[in-house]
Amino acid sequence: MTVAPVPAAAPSAYDRADWASAFRNVSQELSDVPVVASRGAIPTELSGSLYRNGPGRLERAGQWVHHPFDGDGMITALRFEAGGARLSNRFVRTEGWRAEEQAGRFLHRGVFGTPKPGGPLANAFDLRLKNIANTHVVRLGDQLLALWEASSPHALDPVSLETRGLTLLDGVLAPGEAFSAHPRFDPGHHGSPRMVTFGVKAGPRSTIRLMEFEAAGPDAGRLIADSRHAFPGFAFLHDFAITPNWAVFLRNAIDFNPLPYVLGLKGAAQCLKSRPGARGEYWLIPRRDGAFGGQPPRRLEAPEGFVFHHLNAWEDGGAVVIDSIVYADFPSVGPDQDFREVDFERIPEGLLERSRLDLATGRVTTTRLSERTCEFAMVPPARVGLESRHAWMAVAERERGNDPLQALMKLDLVSGEQRLWSAAPRGFVSEPVMVPRPGAAAEDDGWVLDLVWNGARCASDLVILEAATMREQAVLELPLAIPHGLHGSWVAA
Ligand SMILES: [Fe+2]
Repeated sequence: MTVAPVPAAAPSAYDRADWASAFRNVSQELSDVPVVASRGAIPTELSGSLYRNGPGRLERAGQWVHHPFDGDGMITALRFEAGGARLSNRFVRTEGWRAEEQAGRFLHRGVFGTPKPGGPLANAFDLRLKNIANTHVVRLGDQLLALWEASSPHALDPVSLETRGLTLLDGVLAPGEAFSAHPRFDPGHHGSPRMVTFGVKAGPRSTIRLMEFEAAGPDAGRLIADSRHAFPGFAFLHDFAITPNWAVFLRNAIDFNPLPYVLGLKGAAQCLKSRPGARGEYWLIPRRDGAFGGQPPRRLEAPEGFVFHHLNAWEDGGAVVIDSIVYADFPSVGPDQDFREVDFERIPEGLLERSRLDLATGRVTTTRLSERTCEFAMVPPARVGLESRHAWMAVAERERGNDPLQALMKLDLVSGEQRLWSAAPRGFVSEPVMVPRPGAAAEDDGWVLDLVWNGARCASDLVILEAATMREQAVLELPLAIPHGLHGSWVAA
């Protein structure tokens, strides 16, 4: 394990077989199994739960999913208390998971191209969505929400991880209504902490429903702001960002041709196609309790590129600044490709870029913040919606070029200074979660938690770093093999 930056233009140092070995079925469900640090020590002040979501079932009856995003959601929980840790994991008991467990084979089409057995004829005109609850997991009130953006959340018990079932959030949602997997947690810009999130109804005109929920106290989970806004054009919106006054969306320049999906030839997400050279648009919706509440949304032309995830946004005088991970094109797995054999050199890398949206002139200027391939970035929770000095993200080991994510980086957004912790050559990182130290004075004081796929062990490690220095604090070799995952969150005790 290294801390120093690697030299420029280094060759890729990973073994694809190590990376691909993480794609497997999870065959066990653990309940509160004690785990100890195999190196270092768990900080005694670290008190709370790390929840992670991601695909846990990737194959049935010899048939592999076409894309790991089609894998059934499995929640991993690590509870930290007094220098100890306990591990639990549970599949989300979705309707699709239950039925397929019983049948022993896939019964549903996957959005990312996994067909039902039986060829196109068996798939044509079957437009039911399998809500696989695999994208994110957050705590809201007395429940965990396992999120999947095209449909309702699943509610889970935060301790046992047992699935309570689909939830409409006390009647806020209509059955099957889209509910984003990317809520943003407002630390208290309008008094108390809020979960701000959205749902999209996409079509030739797309409607965004913007919702704000109380996120703390006895009213946690109560809907406190709710509005709908229509925009021209098809909207593929995976993520967004918030400031005290705005909800900021980037509508990618993407078209959707549903015909191959309807005919059973492709998954719905495979029918998204970027328009090279075309510009997307920023859509800024005023938050109800902000200075522009009630005013119509603003639209500004975006630079070229495709964005899944944003880091953060904030306001600077008459401008909104947003940091995003930008790809030159929409990365997808073609119908005849095997996702385990993807050629990283041939797909675009994600790069962190900052766009400054001048609301007076409508002008947008963009600068690159780092040349290193990155994904899954976050600022300290207290800086969401405000300018932040620090960010943490998963990055490639090499300074340039596209590779799997093998290192974690702390980036100083003012000076550009980078601090790295690397799991290379045999480790592969996931989304880092920064946990502030209770009562910390400095914004970067705390820890970074990360699930790392250990290719040497063919199992997962939980790595704890000191957030300020990226020095390793502890490594917990888990008795569990967790496939490359998606998003997760920290809930303080
Ligand atoms: Fe995401």
